[in-house]
Amino acid sequence: MEITKINKEKAWELRHKVMWPDKDLDYIKLEDDDLGIHFGLFKENILVSVISLFINNEEGQFRKFATLEQEQGKGYGSKLLDYVIKEAKDRGVKRIWCNARENKVNFYKKFGLEESNYRFTKGGKSYVIMEKDK
Ligand SMILES: CC(C)(COP(=O)(O)OP(=O)(O)OC[C@H]1O[C@@H](n2cnc3c(N)ncnc32)[C@H](O)[C@@H]1OP(=O)(O)O)[C@@H](O)C(=O)NCCC(=O)NCCS
Repeated sequence: MEITKINKEKAWELRHKVMWPDKDLDYIKLEDDDLGIHFGLFKENILVSVISLFINNEEGQFRKFATLEQEQGKGYGSKLLDYVIKEAKDRGVKRIWCNARENKVNFYKKFGLEESNYRFTKGGKSYVIMEKDK
């Protein structure tokens, strides 16, 4: 198992496969992807989990976290998220945050993220901003 930085095209591949397989590839691209740092976890040279980190001053947002469906629940996502939180800290990030899908709140709590009061819905899904100060 190995975690490395990847290019945005690799991140797109997995985002598309896991999150929105029925939409065009363009749908999963972010305007900011050129500004992001993309990370991937490989198992036997196969990309199984991706996440993208966007740093703005001392704040870091992670977005588009996805693990191949058949590899979910095996701890890969947790390893990748741990890595990215540490990486953000090393880069001087003081506050890390994400738009969490409601059904992922308890998952993110395990990493010390807390629910803020800010909630919204997008594409029929409910989200809450979760955050963690250094
Ligand atoms: C969210 C996501 C990236 C997590 O990745 P993952 O690789 O499945 O993450 P993990 O395997 O580390 O953890 C998933 C669950 O399995 C559990 N788990 C981890 N290792 C385990 C193991 N060895 N045995 C049993 N359970 C385990 C974790 O505790 C976690 O449980 P929880 O969801 O009840 O909190 C993945 O579910 C995904 O791609 N979902 C679809 C896209 C999505 O929703 N993205 C996030 C938007 S906010």
